[in-house]
Amino acid sequence: MSRIAYVNGQYLPHSHASVHIEDRGYQFADGVYEVCEVLDGHLVDEKLHMARLSRSLEELQIPHPMSDRALGVVLREVVLRNKVCNGSVYLQVTRGVAPRNHFFPPDGTAPSIVVTARNASVAKSSALAEQGVAVISLPDNRWDRVDIKSVSLLPNVLAKQAAREQGAYEAWFVDDEGYVTEGSSTNAWIVTKDGTIVTRPANEGILKGITRTIVLELAEREGMAFEERSFTIQEAQQAREAFITAATTLVMPVVSIDDMTVANGTPGHIATTLRSLFHTQAEIADT
Ligand code: PDD
Repeated sequence: MSRIAYVNGQYLPHSHASVHIEDRGYQFADGVYEVCEVLDGHLVDEKLHMARLSRSLEELQIPHPMSDRALGVVLREVVLRNKVCNGSVYLQVTRGVAPRNHFFPPDGTAPSIVVTARNASVAKSSALAEQGVAVISLPDNRWDRVDIKSVSLLPNVLAKQAAREQGAYEAWFVDDEGYVTEGSSTNAWIVTKDGTIVTRPANEGILKGITRTIVLELAEREGMAFEERSFTIQEAQQAREAFITAATTLVMPVVSIDDMTVANGTPGHIATTLRSLFHTQAEIADT
């Protein structure tokens, strides 16, 4: 099946879809993005993703490319045309095309928008979750506006590659005070010995993950103890459980941190429960 991408108003064959060489996303990483889960062909937590997209655009003074309603139509169309059942839809908006110059382009420059979608193997992801994954830690060398979901992801790319080269799945960034901020493309969590779920507050040093928001709501709904506070790598290594969250991985148990086994080295009960209940709390779009 040939894949289709949406680019600036057109649905194009994926292999021929392209943006201009002077797109500011290409030249300056001057853009933002969202990744939304697709479950049985339905968008998951669309409203929260759209709200975060709006916030990212506004923080960077990039004009909205279209209304949320119109964007919803495009997202659904791309999912449909690519026959995505379970997977994700990717949406990127940049400040548009203009002769290369660090200043913002003239008012009225249209933002560029690209939407793609792809299937992902549920079986593979479930198998990984049954086994649990390893993480490594690295100093957080990112800028201080990681709350904006910007496509400027070089430190994240280097961290993820470092993880792979060390046989791990994810890299956790650690701030100057020795506290874990988040993963290169996921939020970081632990469960303490007394069973309290812990994740860093979203007001500094992390992206406020949509999956994170839903997991906190789920923990509350299920009467699980949770706390938003920072933790160190040492605390995580001694924890009862650890896990990561993102729209693409959902809740993924962590069984090793910097080569130290977490608990008995198998996925924990709380992480596994949160994973299995996740879609009972997430908002699944009707169409
Ligand atoms: N990443 N932190 C970072 C740095 C991320 O890049 C992501 C998501 C998250 C989790 O956010 P959410 O729960 O809304 O997916 C946290 C996406 C999936 C990506 O870059 O592919």
